[in-house]
Amino acid sequence: MRRAAVLGTGSCLPERLLTNAELEQMVETSDEWITARTGIRTRRIAGENEQNYQLAAQAARRALDAAEVRAEEIGLIIVATISPHMLVPSCACFVQTEIGAAKAFAFDLNAACSGFLYGLDVAAKYVAADPNMKVLVIGSETLSARVDWEDRNTCILFGDGAGACVVGSAEGRGIIGSRLYSDGSLWNLLCMDSPASRNPDLIAPASKGCFIQMAGRDVFKYAVRAMENAVTDLLTQQQLSIQDIALIIPHQANIRILDNLAERLGAQPSQIFCNVDKYGNTSAASIPIALDEAVREGRLHRGDKLLLCSFGGGFTWGSMLLEW
Ligand code: UT7
Repeated sequence: MRRAAVLGTGSCLPERLLTNAELEQMVETSDEWITARTGIRTRRIAGENEQNYQLAAQAARRALDAAEVRAEEIGLIIVATISPHMLVPSCACFVQTEIGAAKAFAFDLNAACSGFLYGLDVAAKYVAADPNMKVLVIGSETLSARVDWEDRNTCILFGDGAGACVVGSAEGRGIIGSRLYSDGSLWNLLCMDSPASRNPDLIAPASKGCFIQMAGRDVFKYAVRAMENAVTDLLTQQQLSIQDIALIIPHQANIRILDNLAERLGAQPSQIFCNVDKYGNTSAASIPIALDEAVREGRLHRGDKLLLCSFGGGFTWGSMLLEW
């Protein structure tokens, strides 16, 4: 049976590391608090030549190489992001021209930290409609520009980076199913009023509305329950149990969320992929970066069942099951 499958993965992280020790110099916090409450030790911060679309394009080139697909073969580029380089044009259009994917149409998708999962689901539908279609799905963020560096509740959490997948039709493997959800009534628990800009002429430092605002404790509780339900619903639908899953890649927001989720699902710690210690919360980029690392570390083998799950602003959440 042919399915939409991940043909190759890539990622790109900025050079600059920001440590908890450095954050101690910036806000009233400690390495001990950050490590114990979040599991985060370092995060990457984008520099001048590491704009969102540049990180996205580099991740895309690596995914194309891994998939052995040429940029001209790509029919669609989806960039999931909440920190685009500009509001218009989309980050996806910048990526298109950077990598030379002249035949692709391109658009951005905003589903916050669930953006990559939503993007993969959209890609799967295009591939199902046209088996010759090849889609680049990218999650890319430069959240360092969207964080209030005076707010210790948020600035310790987020990081920059990009991850990408080439999706195309394959025999005997690929995306088996997905469950996606949204609840706009809870919008104010995690939000950003207006887009910030990387253009120094347009930055409005006094406008706190362009920064991420989050009611962390509430988001935490919803995140754990929502991801648990999304995974359980999908497993029930597919008549599988958690023991059938080789690897679970959840959105990387907080080690305590991952531990809680694993416990509620009855999953072994070895089943859950975690790199939040290195990169913090990279929103839409977290799952594709983690997926690329899992692939490069040899954690996935042909025939393995892979489960992705996410939770983010909106609220948006979901799960996806793939056969690798
Ligand atoms: O990616 C989208 C989804 N986002 C998430 O999933 C994030 C979910 N939330 C979280 O990860 C956690 O709620 C946080 C890491 C944001 C916060 O951890 P928490 O254990 O929920 O702490 P809290 O917000 O309940 O705050 C506990 C205390 C407070 O002090 P009081 O009121 O108890 O005196 C905070 O002011 O910790 C204080 N605090 C800090 N202390 C040192 C908050 N931030 C810091 C900090 N350093 N950076």
